[in-house]
Amino acid sequence: MNNIKPDKNGFFGNYGGQFIEEDLKNELNKIEKEFLEIIQDKSFLDELDYLMKNFVGRPSPIYFAKNLSTKLGNKIYLKREDLNHTGAHKINHCLGEALLAKKMGKTKVIGETGAGQHGLALATASALLGLQCDIYMGETDIEKAKTNVDKMKLLGANVIPVSHGTKSLKEAVDAALTAYKNDFKNSFYAIGSVVGPHPFPMIVEYFQTRIGVDANKQMKEQYDGLPDYVVACVGGGSNAIGIFNGFVHEQDVQLIGVEPLGKSEKIGENAASISFGKDGILHGFKCKVLQDENGNVMDAYSVACGLDYPGIGPKHCYLNENKLAKYETIGDLEAIDAFYELSKTEGIIPALESSHAVAYAIKLSKEVKDKRILVNLSGRGDKDINFIMENYPKN
Ligand SMILES: Cc1ncc(COP(=O)(O)O)c(C=O)c1O
Repeated sequence: MNNIKPDKNGFFGNYGGQFIEEDLKNELNKIEKEFLEIIQDKSFLDELDYLMKNFVGRPSPIYFAKNLSTKLGNKIYLKREDLNHTGAHKINHCLGEALLAKKMGKTKVIGETGAGQHGLALATASALLGLQCDIYMGETDIEKAKTNVDKMKLLGANVIPVSHGTKSLKEAVDAALTAYKNDFKNSFYAIGSVVGPHPFPMIVEYFQTRIGVDANKQMKEQYDGLPDYVVACVGGGSNAIGIFNGFVHEQDVQLIGVEPLGKSEKIGENAASISFGKDGILHGFKCKVLQDENGNVMDAYSVACGLDYPGIGPKHCYLNENKLAKYETIGDLEAIDAFYELSKTEGIIPALESSHAVAYAIKLSKEVKDKRILVNLSGRGDKDINFIMENYPKN
């Protein structure tokens, strides 16, 4: 199904690679070798499958959103990653990463988090497997996603606040990478998306691909055929790659990645790296990066802290360049409207990140009718409720 793989240097076409120091390169090459071995190991795969089924609750269902469909004139299907243990798709790769770290004899995992969902999932996997867990998180995001911070602490993780720059996801990745470089002998960098130097994007993609594999099968078995569109929000791009991989080989399915337009199209006021970025190097890999004319990385902004990253996974850059997926944008206010809309029409409160994908399905429904639109509902909105009620209350 997923036959678009990185080359031996970790590039998807022009994007990806390893732009890092030599000693770290050796370590990452070791991780790649162990990863490729482990995914052939039946006992590892059995353990992962057992945990996915009995700990996470997979496969997540696909729900036909009847009320919203009637309103929009299209059939809207929701892939319910929000129902996973810990409330988002992030647990899919965190369990894989933590198991790999453990098999490599590491005692600690290091990660960054924006919305707190990757941090929460990693803290959960670490508690389960007895690993020490350090999570770097920007101070702005700590304020916004306080419940997730409390949960991480409860699970035994160290949450390390990052107080420079925009105090959000990019700076959290900077800090986590620095900590990892200083301690890679004992630790494993459990990155939160399909970003970073090779092999990290490939590893996260592998564990997330089960979303798409499940979804393809569920659409055929439960709903008599494939969707016309598959829509997913894109921060670094892990939930989108996960679901896209189940459909990228299907000729008649249009894949749509939804980037956050934030407040406007002005650089600094959004986080839409494919739409407004240029080729550049960020966090050890090549991708589309939001930057000024001198090549300085610009601040990224979105109301959804899990989306405000100034780069994007290399495979998305490849899919975009080769017209295998389309990338569209949704602004803060459209996402917030969708947050309310799905809550009120279907009784499902989506994460603000996932609300971008829902908002795009609503927007698309102004142009097309009688189509089947599968939306990846990457997470639930519990973490966003206080923020929305305080800042964007509606009757
Ligand atoms: C619920 C949810 N969806 C999506 C994202 C964006 O990440 P990605 O693009 O890697 O799926 C996040 C990030 O925190 C998230 O919490």
